[in-house]
Amino acid sequence: MKFFRVKTLLVILCLLAMLESMVTEAASGNKVKRVKPPKPVKPVQELLTCKSRKSKCFMKRIKCPIECPKVKPKNPKDKACFLDCYSPKCEAVCRSRKPNCNGPGAACYDPRFIGGDGIVFYFHGRSNEHFTLLSDSDLQINARFIGLRPQGRTRDYTWIQALGFKYGHHNFTLEATRAEKWDDNVDHLKLSHDGTELFVPEGHSSEWNSNEGDIQVERTSTTNSITVTIADLAEVSVNVIQVSKADSKIHNYQIPANDSFAHLEVQFRFFGLSSNVEGILGRTYRPDFENPAKPGVAMPVIGGDDKYKTSSLLATDCALCLFSPDNTRDEHDSLTMKYGMLDCKGGGRNGITCKK
Ligand SMILES: *[C@@H]1O[C@H](CO)[C@@H](O)[C@H](O)[C@H]1NC(C)=O
Ligand SMILES: *[C@@H]1O[C@H](CO)[C@@H](O)[C@H](O)[C@H]1NC(C)=O
Repeated sequence: MKFFRVKTLLVILCLLAMLESMVTEAASGNKVKRVKPPKPVKPVQELLTCKSRKSKCFMKRIKCPIECPKVKPKNPKDKACFLDCYSPKCEAVCRSRKPNCNGPGAACYDPRFIGGDGIVFYFHGRSNEHFTLLSDSDLQINARFIGLRPQGRTRDYTWIQALGFKYGHHNFTLEATRAEKWDDNVDHLKLSHDGTELFVPEGHSSEWNSNEGDIQVERTSTTNSITVTIADLAEVSVNVIQVSKADSKIHNYQIPANDSFAHLEVQFRFFGLSSNVEGILGRTYRPDFENPAKPGVAMPVIGGDDKYKTSSLLATDCALCLFSPDNTRDEHDSLTMKYGMLDCKGGGRNGITCKK
């Protein structure tokens, strides 16, 4: 009995206390309960390492910068964390996952290149033909040009429509498919590996890896942007775009109404090229290369059609082609890329200068 009384007493006390607090709250007219503000959630800075023994970063755990904590940020516009395993520094940095047309190794517009030496040049080639961008003993990259010749002009206006890669005994191709009317939301990429068409589902960060693990394709936005990584050889970021109406007007390309001239804008990064690497872009990475395009000239055009023309997207028959996957090459003849440290400034199409 006593027990029940105590319990009842407690209940009454509680009710009284509640009543009192309600009264005071009502009196102050403030029903807002104060809570401690939540602690800001710190983004997790991912850790990266390099698996290659040749790398300065071999087995070290490198933290991503706070400004770009993730390798694959959820928002495709955010900068991504990147660790260059081939750089003499061992440092994770922030960078865009899209090609930078104003950075070294870029091939954009009606193709305007930025060489490994940081020098800007144009190569026109011819429409519906193939040219070697890079040829080394273990890597070959060709480009197919599309274009047109407006009435009264003496040359073709060209863009890069497809790339063909050969590495070891494998092939990889990527193409911009023709679009009558351009729509950003429609994917215009066509990919193939060793002759088989690849389907990489649409969607940011969707990826495909070869069985051998020697090549990876990763989408960097829902449609029309990918990065291709060929292990120990190259990394290529690509967008498919149309020739814009504005550009068409400025340059008087006379683009027909039934073709948007879907083409590629590309930025290459190369790892461990040899010192005699060839190709329109490749040779600009040679330490002894003297670029015929002089800095300061408004639109330096270089030739070389005869030296770099191939018979198809995956052919290695250009006059200066070096590709020979069966020849083992001197391990020591591997360029340590300085271009990673090139700092390019300026904008527009001709006002770029790069410094080491
Ligand atoms: C790569 O492409 C070349 C040229 O088209 C072809 O001869 C060869 O069989 C291809 N190799 C593979 C592994 O598909
Ligand atoms: C596009 O239009 C041109 C004329 O401007 C014509 O010659 C060509 O056949 C057309 N192409 C297609 C695929 O319709």
